[in-house]
Amino acid sequence: MMNLQLNRRNHSLVQKLTSLLFVLIFAFGVIFNNIPVQAATTSTDAEVTNTASFSTDVIYQIVTDRFFDGNTSNNPTGSIFDKSNLQKYHGGDWAGITQKLNEGYFTGMGVTALWISSPVENITTIDPSNNCASYHGYWAKDFFKTNSYFGSVSDFQTMISTAHALGIKIVIDFAPNHTSTAEYGTMTFPEDGALYKNGTYLGGFKNDSQGLFNHESWTDFSTLENSIYHSMYGLADLNHQNATVDTYMKEAIQKWLDYGVDGIRVDAVKHMSAGWQKNWLSSIYSYKPVFVFGEWFNGGVAADADMTKFANDSGMSLLDFRFANAVRNALGSGTATMKDLYNVVTATGSDYEEVNDQVTFIDNHDMSRFMTLASNNQRAVDNAYVILLTSRGVPTIYYGSEQYATGSTDPNNRGDMPSFNTNSTAYKVIGKLAPLRKTNPALAYGTTTERWINNDVMIYERQFGSNVVVTAVNRNQSSSYSISGLYTNLPQGTYTDVMQGTLGGGNITVTSGGAVNTFTLGAGQSAVWQYTASSSTTPLIGNVDPMMGVAGNTVTITGRGFGNTQGSVSFGTNAAQVVSWTDSTIKVIIPSVSAGKYAIKVTTSTGSASNSYSGFEVLSGKQISVRFKVNNATTNYGTNIYLVGNIFELGNWDASKAIGPLFNNTSTIGVYPTWFFDVSVPAGTAIQYKFIKKDASGNVVWESGSNHTVTTPNTGTAEATANWQN
Ligand code: NOJ
Ligand code: NOJ
Ligand code: CA
Ligand code: CA
Repeated sequence: MMNLQLNRRNHSLVQKLTSLLFVLIFAFGVIFNNIPVQAATTSTDAEVTNTASFSTDVIYQIVTDRFFDGNTSNNPTGSIFDKSNLQKYHGGDWAGITQKLNEGYFTGMGVTALWISSPVENITTIDPSNNCASYHGYWAKDFFKTNSYFGSVSDFQTMISTAHALGIKIVIDFAPNHTSTAEYGTMTFPEDGALYKNGTYLGGFKNDSQGLFNHESWTDFSTLENSIYHSMYGLADLNHQNATVDTYMKEAIQKWLDYGVDGIRVDAVKHMSAGWQKNWLSSIYSYKPVFVFGEWFNGGVAADADMTKFANDSGMSLLDFRFANAVRNALGSGTATMKDLYNVVTATGSDYEEVNDQVTFIDNHDMSRFMTLASNNQRAVDNAYVILLTSRGVPTIYYGSEQYATGSTDPNNRGDMPSFNTNSTAYKVIGKLAPLRKTNPALAYGTTTERWINNDVMIYERQFGSNVVVTAVNRNQSSSYSISGLYTNLPQGTYTDVMQGTLGGGNITVTSGGAVNTFTLGAGQSAVWQYTASSSTTPLIGNVDPMMGVAGNTVTITGRGFGNTQGSVSFGTNAAQVVSWTDSTIKVIIPSVSAGKYAIKVTTSTGSASNSYSGFEVLSGKQISVRFKVNNATTNYGTNIYLVGNIFELGNWDASKAIGPLFNNTSTIGVYPTWFFDVSVPAGTAIQYKFIKKDASGNVVWESGSNHTVTTPNTGTAEATANWQN
């Protein structure tokens, strides 16, 4: 096009030569652009090679020990094994998961990711404080070894390669907060919470000469600080500021990533400092960009400021407890209405910067199964799955709930898989809806709009570009509703229910202006109607994953309409090197720019520009966790101490972006008027900082005197202590 324009008029020789030059540059550009860029790794947003983004995936959560025993020879012997006792091992293993992969149990349901129990070696004795074995995987002993009751390294790798060949990703649970129980009154624990590194003993809880653990008694969960540095029910609480522990966790997770793991569910993120976690996460993203989501347990539907902050600032997604509880209240216990549910969808939609990346569910191993909550009403379970699978967020099915398994509290909610029946209604509902997440991008990336609502019925629309999905659910199993006055962005035409009437849904007809002809939504019925656009010429970014990193890391941009010829990507005004490019997935390298938040934009080869996707966080460089501490900082009630400094991670001297409020109530670390905080900051960097006082209305008092300074080490952790300067 450019050469045509330049050749339109033929004036002087100079102009002709200039035109020729442009033609040549253009021709080179074409040749250059057509060179397949790492064609071998080029993939679409729906493929298993897309480990950074799970937007199009449906996760299936497995308690490995309770799923399927594929190899009885690896079962424990002795008192920790008892199939009639839900607190003991039952024999489930990776060979069993591999067998079910091969039998097609997951693919038949459209599941594209498995989240399995923590695979690391756990204690092999009974925890005397609760007479329980480590079948759940949360009592680690050696994060560098496999739990032999689940299988060997080769069993693990076979499971992964089998899954990958079927287009299924593997997510591991990982619990870096603690080892095993070591603290309960005067009780003696046989393994003392000891930590091993590939067989080598590093230290125990009582025998802790290295300072591997925090020693602050049980948490009372009263404050964030108390939750972080105290132990959770006596689980030996790892001290992540200890350089040995920090390095250990960075190396351990790499080992599992090397085995081919595609994602990580991080246990108990509320119980570890955000600073240490961000530094750990940054090391993970620099090693292999995978999808990471944390468990910040929350029993309600209301916003929790600390949880929201973590979801938006930590660099990882969270399990969406607010959404889960809202669905459970409206469709399970009946303690809230569909309007209440929609209000939570709206509120979370504005609280979470990346709402499509939060991981949704209707039940899990720490709460009652949905079937039990819904008084054994199967249709309630089916309808909850319809909402789960068509709402924003990455949906997770808890093993067995698709077979209507029951059970209220732990361990009754972790029973053996009741059956592998591929004819259960829930299995079929999931099997119809899960594949839609791969084919219609409205589910992965779309907006959510309420279209018709009352206390029993919720009809909502998801939309991305001209892709549209409309979901209608009537939770009331004795009243039908006449749906009139419904409008949609579905194009004119008649639509059949994606579930083919499995839950009673029929057709709808959309007339001019998006008006839907009046229809009846029967008692307890639900339906899903959809329109998938053919290829789009307008580029639209749906997601960017991860949303933080350091220059040189790879970032995955997903969406539609990028075209099949490479165009360009910018971070602010800076071009990013493209690694691979398809119509739905682009991989780029974070450019060397100064740290800060950037908007990402895609421009197609034909010059069409996408929406700008804001908020990408470029960190100052490789991160380490530093404990900043200030002594003698006295304050009036209601005033707190914050930290601010000359780097992006410390707010670039902007008091409104200062870190804090700092903690001041942990006896082994710091108690008022000493304040402290663990922060992820760049390694090998000379940092200037100050502490400030901020009251409830945001009034700021700066420390006087000159700035404090610290030069961070290149690896490990550090502590920077200062005295408050009046
Ligand atoms: C949360 C897990 O989901 C729960 O099951 C476990 O017991 C605790 N964290 C401790 O690891
Ligand atoms: C930023 C400065 O660089 C720092 O040194 C000073 O203490 C504060 N602003 C307050 O003036
Ligand atoms: Ca077994
Ligand atoms: Ca902790």
